[in-house]
Amino acid sequence: MSKLMSYTGARLPRVFVTRQIPGDGMDIVHGVARADVWPDELPPPYATLAERVADCEGLLCLLTDRVDGALLDGAPQLRVVSQLAVGYDNIDVAACTARGVKVGNTPGVLTETTADLAFALLMATARRIVESDRVVRSGRWQTWSPLFMAGVDIHHATIGIVGMGRIGYEVARRAHGFQMTVLYSDERPNEAAERDFGARRLPLDDLLATSDFVTIHTPLQPETTHLMGSRELSLMKPTAILVNSARGPIVDQRALFDALDRGVIGGAGLDVFESEPVPADEPLLALDNVVVAPHIGSASVATRTRMAVIAAENLVAGLRGEPLPHGVN
Ligand code: GLV
Repeated sequence: MSKLMSYTGARLPRVFVTRQIPGDGMDIVHGVARADVWPDELPPPYATLAERVADCEGLLCLLTDRVDGALLDGAPQLRVVSQLAVGYDNIDVAACTARGVKVGNTPGVLTETTADLAFALLMATARRIVESDRVVRSGRWQTWSPLFMAGVDIHHATIGIVGMGRIGYEVARRAHGFQMTVLYSDERPNEAAERDFGARRLPLDDLLATSDFVTIHTPLQPETTHLMGSRELSLMKPTAILVNSARGPIVDQRALFDALDRGVIGGAGLDVFESEPVPADEPLLALDNVVVAPHIGSASVATRTRMAVIAAENLVAGLRGEPLPHGVN
């Protein structure tokens, strides 16, 4: 920190920070740069972002900000784009690389917090927690009865983890604690998950057909867009639950609605959507077998604070022309 604070130079570089971020990160930014911080709760519109970043050397942004070639062309002094998130599908990394702009993200610190949220959604959907909450609050709870609010078991069930990276591995750890059978699908074998949790790698179709829970932990890329469409959903068990805490467009949301509505699968726990925020008239929201959250995978105070520090450190390194602690290009 003191090393960062001592970086003053003859002229402080200008940076645009697209939202107010936790103080520890902001202190680091203020120590090294003249920071223009977007004050609103809602993100700056694209045109405003382009205008504010035009004379900046650094940009600290969120996943709600689109960073593309046109924006970069309007900001010729930009040296670093530091994203406060692990996923960076909102940033055209190739366009940044082509213009010599470094891109950073915040992996690692959010792994367990995000795995917790995926597991929370899995449990809430399986045991109908949100539906039960609504029944109690609305005065519709009349008596104890044998199948009232009966869901599906989590313990000893089979979980299929799509994408066995850092977060997938931590979900596997949680599943192992519930004595679940752990399957996964990934381009590469994950020896640690196989050794530590007995995880077995299967082709996606086989995983879908065998799992009681399918949980997605891949980045959003052209190859993973609509990875889960109507064909894939139709391979799942009619009782199975899909959890998505990765990125909305990995699942074809219309196909998911259809599958849930027609009983092709049993339920879904969703933290992410094809379009965020979800409009109030989104058909999925009318289904009782869906539990939703507003993209809060990494949202614990401690984790978001650590993410802000890493994003600030990436920004500082980029301004100094040093390798980013967590660079993606
Ligand atoms: C949140 O979705 C992240 O990518 O960090």
